[in-house]
Amino acid sequence: MPLIPLRVLLDHAAENGYGVAALNVNNMEQIQAIMLAAQETDSPVIIQASRGARKYSNDNYLRHLILAAAELNPTIPIVMHLDHGNSLATCQSAIDNGFTSVMMDGSLSEDGKVPSDYAYNAEVTEQVVNAAHAVGVSVEGEIGALGGIEDGHGAGLSEEEAQEHLTDPDQAEKFVADTGVDALAVAIGTSHGAYKFKKKPTGEVLKMDLIEEIHRRLPNTHIVMHGSSSVPQELQDIINQYGGQMAQTYGVPVEEIQRGIRNGVRKVNVDTDNRMAITGAIRKVFSETPEAFDPRKYLGPAREAMKEVCKARMIAFGQAGHAGEIPIKTCSEMIDFYAG
Ligand code: G3H
Ligand code: 13P
Ligand code: ZN
Repeated sequence: MPLIPLRVLLDHAAENGYGVAALNVNNMEQIQAIMLAAQETDSPVIIQASRGARKYSNDNYLRHLILAAAELNPTIPIVMHLDHGNSLATCQSAIDNGFTSVMMDGSLSEDGKVPSDYAYNAEVTEQVVNAAHAVGVSVEGEIGALGGIEDGHGAGLSEEEAQEHLTDPDQAEKFVADTGVDALAVAIGTSHGAYKFKKKPTGEVLKMDLIEEIHRRLPNTHIVMHGSSSVPQELQDIINQYGGQMAQTYGVPVEEIQRGIRNGVRKVNVDTDNRMAITGAIRKVFSETPEAFDPRKYLGPAREAMKEVCKARMIAFGQAGHAGEIPIKTCSEMIDFYAG
């Protein structure tokens, strides 16, 4: 099956009331973990790579690994998505290298750190929409800002600062009209990385009401929740039990994500939980068998641990069981859709 644009998958998710995990990858084992989870749950998947991932792995490796995943899993629809593109050039190079979907994150300036202004965001996002839609590639934009992208800890907005950059529903409406994005990432108080909240979040800091308001105003726009790792206590405990030093922290509870999915959230970005699963599994092997030095002895359990997290999210978000139902369209076949 060919790789498909994000729009095709999210339209089906909206029609059928489910959400789809968008899972970050940097290497072969992470792609394999996602595909094993997809196979076991019959789920369509969004595999995404950040700028950092592209730099680490190289687009050619990513593209061929994802094409291998498609070849080996002919029943699983796959979207290959650029996470947090920072400029037209970054998005264009992803399109040129086989990505079927790109995020233009103009909520931050080109440095990927400092919040930008509306005019810049709308202009650069519209440019990306024009370039991408012309070749049938989907586009995600962002309004409001999350931050914490590069290292997930400290580089972006703090828990308090995140509250100052929440999405304004008026701006969200205008942004969708001005840009024509397929999917809209919103800022509701969460952030990237493990250190999102100092205690289990209440509606004071995790503004699910805002999602409901945005969905009321934009019922036909696919909403994206970034920073959606749940940072499970058991994964923190495993890491710390085997020599890690993670400070106590709280993520986005899965029930809150499910509430979002009932209110228009269709794409749910998760990276940190998988990083934690991998790290915990590797630490355990290193601690229990310090004599081991075959990478397969620790990358195998790491892959297995990530697969379990992916499976749990695929089931919880509702994408499980839908792989066979997606009306497959390639990017070329979407050109007319976007032109019309
Ligand atoms: O949005 C952030 C993702 O977790 C990717 O993180 O930029 O460290 O690859 P990264
Ligand atoms: P987490 O850090 O919560 O996993 O968020 C990932 C993300 O939003 C990627 O774009
Ligand atoms: Zn993100």
